[in-house]
Amino acid sequence: MSLNDKTVVVAGAGGGMGNAIVGALLEAGANVVGCDINVDSLSNYKGNRTFMDIEANLLDEQAVRTVFQKASDQFGVINGVVNAAGIAQRSTPIEDISLDHWHKIMDINMTMTFLMCREAAKYMKQEQAGSIVNIGSVSTTRPRPGLQSYVASKGAVESFSKALALELAPFKINVNVLHPGPCDTNMLGQFAQEGANVDEVKQTVFKDSVPLGELLTPEDIAKSVKFLLSGDASMITGSVLHVDGGRSV
Ligand SMILES: NC(=O)c1ccc[n+]([C@@H]2O[C@H](COP(=O)([O-])OP(=O)(O)OC[C@H]3O[C@@H](n4cnc5c(N)ncnc54)[C@H](O)[C@@H]3O)[C@@H](O)[C@H]2O)c1
Repeated sequence: MSLNDKTVVVAGAGGGMGNAIVGALLEAGANVVGCDINVDSLSNYKGNRTFMDIEANLLDEQAVRTVFQKASDQFGVINGVVNAAGIAQRSTPIEDISLDHWHKIMDINMTMTFLMCREAAKYMKQEQAGSIVNIGSVSTTRPRPGLQSYVASKGAVESFSKALALELAPFKINVNVLHPGPCDTNMLGQFAQEGANVDEVKQTVFKDSVPLGELLTPEDIAKSVKFLLSGDASMITGSVLHVDGGRSV
C-alpha cells in the first residue's frame, strides 16, 4: 500500500499511536509532518528528509494555521490529516468531575479535532482531494463506567466526522473515524481508577475485554490508518472503523 509522494499531517505524533503512525506512513513513502505539544519521542525520525516535526499546542488556532502553512511550504499539497492527539480520563464518578476538567477533555479530544479539520479543509478544498482520519475510541460504542466525559468527547468526534464527511464529499475529501480498542500506550493506564495497579488493570480489565485476547498495539492502529489514507479506501467516507480485536461486539 503505497503513499508515495503524499503529504500527511499527524496530530499527536509524539504519542504512542502517533509515533507508530508516523513510522508506518514514512515507510509507505509519505512525507510526514508530525506535530505534538511534545515532540521528544520523535527524535528517531529526525534527519529523514521526508519528515518534519513541529512542537505546538494544537488548541491554539494560530499554531494550527502555522502547522499547515509550514507543511505546505515544505512539501506542497497536503493529502492527508490524522488526528491522534488526545487525553484520557481517570475512571471517576460524575459528581467528582469539575467543570474545568470536563472542558479540558472536550477541548483536547474534540475542539482540537475541529481546529485541525477546519484548517485541513481549506487546503484540501483547493485540491478537490484529501483524506482525514479522526481517532475516536471503542468506548463510544461500548462505554465503561466512570469515563462519561471522555466517552462524550469521542462520541462528538464520531458525529462530527460523519457530518464533515457529508459536507466535504462534493470536494472529494474523505473523512473517517477509527475507533481503537484498548491499546498498549502510556494512555491506557491513565483510564484506571486513582490508586489502581496500572499493570494489573491493563492485563485484566483491558486485555480480558478484547475477544481476540490481546491488547492492541500502536502498529495495529497505524496499519489501518495507512489503509484509510490510501487510494484503496477512496470510496470509504463517513465510516467508523473499529480496530479493537472485537471489543465493540
Ligand atoms: N490507548 C488507548 O487504549 C486508546 C484507546 C482508544 C482511543 N485512544 C485514542 O487514541 C489517540 C492516541 O492515543 P495514545 O494511546 O497514543 O495516547 P498518548 O497519550 O500516547 O498520545 C496522545 C498525544 O496527544 C498529545 N497532545 C495532547 N494534548 C495536546 C495538545 N494540546 N496539542 C498537541 N498535542 C497534544 C500528547 O502530547 C500525546 O503525545 C487519542 O485520541 C486517544 O484518546 C486511545
